[in-house]
Amino acid sequence: MGRAYRWFGRPLLKFQDSEKAHLRSLRILRLLAGNPISRSVLRMIYSPKKRVAITVFGHEYTHPFGLAAGMDKNAMALRGWDAIGLGFTEIGGVTQQEQSGNERPRMFRADNSLALVNRMGFNNNGSKKIAMTLEKHHKRHGKSDIPLWVNIGKSKTTPLDQAHLDYQSTLSALWNYADVFVVNVSSPNTPNLRELQKDDGLIRILEACHSANLHLAGNEEHLKPVLIKVAPDLTDEQLKHMVVTARAHHAAGIVVSNTTLERPTPSGVKEASVFAQQGGLSGKPLFTRSTEMIRIVHEMTSGDWPIIGVGGVFSADDAWQKITAGACLVQAYSAFVFEGPSIVKTVVSGIDQRLKDSSFKNLEEAVGSATKNTTNEG
Ligand SMILES: Cc1cc2nc3c(=O)[nH]c(=O)nc-3n(C[C@H](O)[C@H](O)[C@H](O)COP(=O)(O)O)c2cc1C
Repeated sequence: MGRAYRWFGRPLLKFQDSEKAHLRSLRILRLLAGNPISRSVLRMIYSPKKRVAITVFGHEYTHPFGLAAGMDKNAMALRGWDAIGLGFTEIGGVTQQEQSGNERPRMFRADNSLALVNRMGFNNNGSKKIAMTLEKHHKRHGKSDIPLWVNIGKSKTTPLDQAHLDYQSTLSALWNYADVFVVNVSSPNTPNLRELQKDDGLIRILEACHSANLHLAGNEEHLKPVLIKVAPDLTDEQLKHMVVTARAHHAAGIVVSNTTLERPTPSGVKEASVFAQQGGLSGKPLFTRSTEMIRIVHEMTSGDWPIIGVGGVFSADDAWQKITAGACLVQAYSAFVFEGPSIVKTVVSGIDQRLKDSSFKNLEEAVGSATKNTTNEG
């Protein structure tokens, strides 16, 4: 199926506007997952047969590969993600207010480099409508079989010094439906959002989210994990500083990383015009930096703080490198655009094989095994 997508699906994409193609794919996935027969067919074709279980935040994930934020901002195709066999789904970024985002076009493909440039600007239905969507989903279909993560961003019109209230309100509105929250202070497409990676803003946001979390949970035991998501453009020092701050203010883990403002060397004139677009770059060129950041965080935290690896994962080998650098879970966005849904099976079967070929008893043992803090050999 992967080859079919590469031969027929990918060439077709070249003739379509990136965002329209994306919306069309989401609608098709939702439609197919809505019917029991086509849902079984999706499951049969795409869902991995292997189980590579790992327990994170007290929850067992059947395998460590999930959907990254931004692909399904409004929770349109939840049953579809489950049917193609993902280990978990992250919806959003959700903001307190409904937003239309930046002007179109705002998403661009660089096919030769397997990269995307986007400046979507948190287009989403807003926390109230998305809570209603999830409520309806729960009533009709029950809770998803796979963990649901919610990525939270800041509404564009909310001033930076009020950002904590914006994040807090979204977390509260969606608390009943989410298994994990990701505080996104690293999108390059909301003016000055990355300023919130600095101590002042970050502490206020994490404390505000924690107080709402505790209020809704009733006690420490039932708190939902709240993670931070960081930019790959931080220096190593800034990253380490952020980790110390976030850990001291209730962050339960870290997602590494969001898109970058850096640009690789383009393969030709067409790519040069894509790379000249304003926005964040994702995909293959992001792999090395985001993996290096995982290694840094794993080493400084001695592997006792969950790291979620995202950025340029296109194969089992990429996922395995992130895992052995220190990620307990791995996500992708761009690979779904370039490789299609068969990427899930490819990655999960490959991880399973690597685990069998190693001396590790389970996936937990492989996490961080390529860094200084671990003595295990693969
Ligand atoms: C079009 C697009 C929209 C995105 N929207 C979000 C978002 O709303 N929140 C967020 O934290 N990350 C967002 N991301 C970043 C991805 O979640 C991911 O961190 C990044 O794309 C790197 O992964 P990849 O190389 O597998 O694409 C977006 C990425 C793309 C391409």
